Amino acid sequence: MLTTLLVGEDFAEAQQKTANYDESKIVPYTLPALLKSSDGRDVSTAEEWVKARRPEVLALFEQHVYGRTPDPKAWGRVEFKVTQVKKDALGGRATRKLIHISLPEHPSWQGMEVMLYTPNGRSGPAPCFVGPSFGGNHAVSTEADVPLSTRWMRPSKEKHIVDNRATEASRGNESSRWPLEMILDQGFAVATYYYGDIEPDHADGWKDGLRAVLSPQGAATEWKDGQWGAIGAWAWGLSRIADYLETDADVDAKHLAVIGHSRLGKTSLWAGAQDVRFGVVISNNSGEGGAAIMRRNFGETTAVITKAFPHWFTRTYAGYANNEAACPIDKHMLIALAAPRPIYIASAVEDEWADPKGEFLSGLNAQPVYDLFGKKGLGVKDQPGIDQPVGDAVGYHVRTGKHDVTSYDWEQYLKFVARHFGR
Ligand code: GCU
Repeated sequence: MLTTLLVGEDFAEAQQKTANYDESKIVPYTLPALLKSSDGRDVSTAEEWVKARRPEVLALFEQHVYGRTPDPKAWGRVEFKVTQVKKDALGGRATRKLIHISLPEHPSWQGMEVMLYTPNGRSGPAPCFVGPSFGGNHAVSTEADVPLSTRWMRPSKEKHIVDNRATEASRGNESSRWPLEMILDQGFAVATYYYGDIEPDHADGWKDGLRAVLSPQGAATEWKDGQWGAIGAWAWGLSRIADYLETDADVDAKHLAVIGHSRLGKTSLWAGAQDVRFGVVISNNSGEGGAAIMRRNFGETTAVITKAFPHWFTRTYAGYANNEAACPIDKHMLIALAAPRPIYIASAVEDEWADPKGEFLSGLNAQPVYDLFGKKGLGVKDQPGIDQPVGDAVGYHVRTGKHDVTSYDWEQYLKFVARHFGR
């Protein structure tokens, strides 16, 4: 099949075969300066970073990459309704709550269904991982009484999605990526939602999602440079979960770690950049459009991602296809937006499409900002060997295997988060 006729996921998949995976073919590039403000001044203190340069960098990501999240006035009141509490979930080790989050001023948005597991038998409120799922709450959990999501899902034979809807056979299909028992047994809570509750993940999905609901032109909106894309909307959902968690006495909302894989890893990085309530930020195989340096022509490129998934980003971003040098940001600046909070970047050695080395290099090049806070970041200059986690305030590993979230990844996250949250 001619790849020019392919769209979306199929186009991206076809491009994986012909991408550059040869380090010697990387075209030399210069990263934009992290510590120089737009008026040419050097930024040399943490205070200057926080007060002046950080807001500039955040605004650059809004204007050029993900778009601006609308002002809270646009969405108004946020309502939480706890719709189910199960005190003996997962064989008694946890309490499972379902929470419906909605916008009473925008009833045409169906709202989002949050699933929260908190460990039983603990002495105080639990620190919590917050992350979106690809398949819905029933896919994260293997418990048969978790309601099946009724929302649109991407077609998948393997996940038993029929006519774009989940079926009974879809239960648990994402559970290997969410080792709930392991997380809960270490005293952490987990809060998750289906990203499609906010917006179906395809180029026209926004018409049936929150972005159309919040836009005065609705489904007739013509998106402009700097207006938000789907990643921004999915990240918005994570912040609304943080809003709810602040009201739940079982959760220590001062200790939230935001986590996501792949396109949802891009989402978690952007959520963490905008919302400092996320005390730790975790990017699992987020790759192009996430942690990977965009100026490296290795694996996925700006041209491919903005053609396959134009809806993920603000319109401006597509203008940097084959023109990365003109973009005023690169992804070391996205990592730096987490500072001084700890951030963990994870790669997989067979996930060359996501450019593991490019993911490492953004962590490395964020160091000048961690320096301003007197924090040690990765603590190494070279990408470590396979399955050799490194880092202090900036964690990194490249693990054996493919594009995925595995228990190895979670073991590192649990250690990292426990260390930084003082558990
Ligand atoms: C595609 C896409 C990546 C993305 C991935 C995923 O491979 O090209 O950018 O990270 O899908 O989300 O699984």
